Amino acid sequence: REALDPVRYISNHSSGKMGYALARAAQEAGARVTLISGPVTLTTPDRCQRVNVSSALEMLDAALDVVSDCDIFIASAAVADYRPAAVAEQKIKKSGDEIQLTLVKNPDIVATITSHAERPFTVGFAAETTDVAAYAKGKLARKNLDMIVANDVSQPGIGFNSDDNAVTLYWPDGEQAFAAMSKQALARELILAIAQRYSAVLGD
Ligand code: PMT
Repeated sequence: REALDPVRYISNHSSGKMGYALARAAQEAGARVTLISGPVTLTTPDRCQRVNVSSALEMLDAALDVVSDCDIFIASAAVADYRPAAVAEQKIKKSGDEIQLTLVKNPDIVATITSHAERPFTVGFAAETTDVAAYAKGKLARKNLDMIVANDVSQPGIGFNSDDNAVTLYWPDGEQAFAAMSKQALARELILAIAQRYSAVLGD
């Protein structure tokens, strides 16, 4: 959420379901999980430590707080690319027929994590509505990720705010497609695939 004034913000349709499912699956697989979460209406999965944030800048700070103690960093949050240049101190009053809003670029959290000296194994997501594979592979390289989960969010019934999802996981020399299933079932499959790749990379 990027605040405009004390009562309004810019956001998107992310519910947090995919991220919470991943946190639960990772915990069940034996990981010690810190869940950095925007404002959602979901219950914190058992035995996960939840850190609440609102904006991209807050999420970046929370991520940097844990990065040195982190083996695997998974970035499934739909973080705003831009935020309002200024947050009005008081509620913006209705005036003319148009108002102008100036946005400035947010830091890229996952790219900041992959450029950190104590860089964890890092898995990003790519939410795309067109040219899904090409954009996802571009983000894999540009953000220096170990793996990326490509999510075609143009498809009905999957992606933002749905209970199900279908994705393709890419890494520099491979890929694995996952047909539509519940986000919790998908999260278990993704954690398994991520753990396998993590072990393979560590073994190199
Ligand atoms: O929350 P749900 O309703 O369950 O929906 C799940 C989901 C659709 C949000 C999820 O599956 C998904 O696709 N998440 C990624 C959403 C996204 O913002 O993707 P992106 O292509 O814009 O960003 C690419 C990557 O950069 C992501 O790992 C994102 O977390 C990261 N990013 C983006 C912006 C930013 N300022 N900092 C970042 O780290």
